[in-house]
Amino acid sequence: MPVIETEGLTKIYGNHRGIEEVTIAVEAGEVFGFLGPNGAGKTTTIRTLLDLIHPSSGTARIFGLDSQRESVAIRARLGNLPGDFGYGREASGREAVRLLARLRGIDGSGRAEALAERFRADLDRPLGQLSRGNRQKVGLILATFHEPELLILDEPTGGLDPLMQEEFLALVAEERERGCTVFISSHDLDEVQRVCDRVGIVRAGKLIAVERMADLLGKARRKVTVRVADPSGLEELRGLEGVSELQIDGTQATFRVVGDFDGVVRTLAPHHVLDLEAVHPSLEEVFLGYYREEGE
Ligand SMILES: Nc1ncnc2c1ncn2[C@@H]1O[C@H](COP(=O)(O)OP(=O)(O)OP(=O)(O)O)[C@@H](O)[C@H]1O
Ligand SMILES: [Mg+2]
Repeated sequence: MPVIETEGLTKIYGNHRGIEEVTIAVEAGEVFGFLGPNGAGKTTTIRTLLDLIHPSSGTARIFGLDSQRESVAIRARLGNLPGDFGYGREASGREAVRLLARLRGIDGSGRAEALAERFRADLDRPLGQLSRGNRQKVGLILATFHEPELLILDEPTGGLDPLMQEEFLALVAEERERGCTVFISSHDLDEVQRVCDRVGIVRAGKLIAVERMADLLGKARRKVTVRVADPSGLEELRGLEGVSELQIDGTQATFRVVGDFDGVVRTLAPHHVLDLEAVHPSLEEVFLGYYREEGE
């Protein structure tokens, strides 16, 4: 049974589009990325799942329970990080932990202190006085301190510095290890690609694709820049399967690669590679890939 299951989930705000007919199933134990640009409908989907807003039509089930009628039973087993994380700015992190423990119907503050140490989060100061990134760290603790079965995180790395982003990704990997299901929204493919098993791509309120991360990256047209000592070999890249847009400038070549790198590496190896960089496409470029496919 899926941990999250929506069927034709639709939310219309007055006469504004929120989300339309979103149908997804997130399986137990998977890390699911929910990707889309600003305004695509990520937060709306999450708020509907959490019963913070009611859908205009369609249904959402979590742990097989109806997200509206059985929201109390769901709450204790779930941890969430809202996108616009506030929780009353007067309260300290420690007070917020206590309040949430009560709302979730659990005793004690779980691993809140241990997580605070790990993320160097300040649980003493009022949340309103913390910087955005430091508030976000407390938000992550509030989402995870009770070791929930399901984590729903809306843009969790917003405001975190690179070191803390790494720490966060490590935490997600550990949560998955202990069997937790994780739903992460993001507008940045790079940020979630290492932790997600599958991704759903949402655009203008509609779910346009669900893919295994590995397949999505395999399809992605990575941009490669290579510098070699012996440029005579660079022309051999032309016509290689998966290689396109080849441009050679002296000892340097730039091109796009779809699929694996094996042919490229074999071709370049005898020519003394000085430098090699491969960049994954941005979410926008992945979208362009979809449009191209649809147009064909
Ligand atoms: N309270 C609201 N009233 C009216 N329209 C809303 C409301 N909340 C969201 N919307 C609209 O719903 C659509 C989806 O917004 P949503 O916040 O879900 O996007 P998002 O994918 O979370 O974007 P972001 O990456 O900026 O957080 C947008 O067109 C937005 O204008
Ligand atoms: Mg949002």
